[in-house]
Amino acid sequence: MKLLVIGSGGREHALAWKLARAPRVSQVFVAPGNGGTMAEDGVKNLPVTEIGTLVEFARREDIALTVVGPEAPLSEGVVDAFRKAGLRIFGPDRAAAQLESSKDFAKQFMVRHGIPTARYQTFTDATAAHAYLDAEGAPIVIKADGLAAGKGVVVAQTLAEAHAAVEAMLADNAMGQAGARVVIEECLQGEEASFIVMADGSHVLPLASSQDHKRLLDDDAGPNTGGMGAYSPAPVVTPELHARIMREIIQPTVAGMAKDGLPYTGFLYAGVMVDGAGNPKVLEFNCRLGDPEAQPLLMRLKSDLTELVEAALDARLDQVEAQWDRRVALAVVLAAGGYPESPRKGDEITGLPAPQEDAHVFHAATRREDGRLYTAGGRVLAVTALGDSVRMAQKRAYELVQGIHFAGMQYRHDIGWRALKRPS
Ligand code: AMP
Ligand code: GLY
Repeated sequence: MKLLVIGSGGREHALAWKLARAPRVSQVFVAPGNGGTMAEDGVKNLPVTEIGTLVEFARREDIALTVVGPEAPLSEGVVDAFRKAGLRIFGPDRAAAQLESSKDFAKQFMVRHGIPTARYQTFTDATAAHAYLDAEGAPIVIKADGLAAGKGVVVAQTLAEAHAAVEAMLADNAMGQAGARVVIEECLQGEEASFIVMADGSHVLPLASSQDHKRLLDDDAGPNTGGMGAYSPAPVVTPELHARIMREIIQPTVAGMAKDGLPYTGFLYAGVMVDGAGNPKVLEFNCRLGDPEAQPLLMRLKSDLTELVEAALDARLDQVEAQWDRRVALAVVLAAGGYPESPRKGDEITGLPAPQEDAHVFHAATRREDGRLYTAGGRVLAVTALGDSVRMAQKRAYELVQGIHFAGMQYRHDIGWRALKRPS
């Protein structure tokens, strides 16, 4: 069968790579894809992003299943359009995708269904927002309501920073419509984990645990990014915590969406903060796999992903199980110079290793031209390796990083540090 993956990042390269290895799959198309998906066995790029054109393509090519990578097409209604045309697609429809596309929707939903999250208020008026900041004090978190490509959250350590963020979003319109409404919430302390599941409207299949590194620089310094590296499993998610997150967060979310008349089908990602006493609270929902969490997760997934997606589309996720490689997978993101503010583009990339059983370089922002590979955006590559321990997966990934070169390349040297620090 022929499949379609929508998106162009590292997550979509990993999805396409994994799906192309399924025995029943003859061809995976990635729209629009990148320089890595272009060269992957069994994978072809399709230079299309317009939803109507994707629907036509899927009909014409008899695409058996479509998997959506990023949030933007979900919030633009790609799932609604495919379903309307009778095509099978895995992801939430536009209404359900509000869990990610509107922070205010997500917060109201969590309060309504008793799902633990930071205390908050929503504002459209700058004067009222400033007064709330003064009453609450710092640290405090300001979030643009809408999708802002990872730039909509300011964790303000001082009131001055907090006021500046409110001013930029509500008064100066720095984020356009996305920032015309802001959520201001309590700053949570603790350790973050990414808890990702597949949902079919009523049942849930949890994926293996993972953890991301959000800050640009070693020791969690520097600005927030989309993620500079990730690994799976994440030891912070103990069996007890796993059970609590399922019981207190994931199950009430899927049940609550069904109850509200917005049944949720697709990957669902809860970004969770775990406090010192082990209590989980939701920081955010994403309606998709994490990037770069998807790269280590999909390297560890031994099950046939097409079978899991089909089970989800047939509402029988309660009847399947996912098998995971016992090894640890760890991904180091190589980012362009200037990322995240203003990444440079067009630098030639050299020294990529050949794919191997225990390592794969997933591409994000790359472009291939006349047989050469160039950088094309902020996060360029995710060098992903398996190992018998965090230390060994880390060693293997960094060995491969040593051979890769492009001008301005920046990466963290400490991916996996939280897992290594934990007493075992
Ligand atoms: P979000 O897009 O909502 O996940 O926010 C991006 C990042 O900001 C999260 O991964 C956290 O590191 C941080 N963050 C978001 N909300 C809070 C909060 N209430 N307290 C502390 N940190 C937060
Ligand atoms: N790595 C975080 C995210 O995908 O949102």
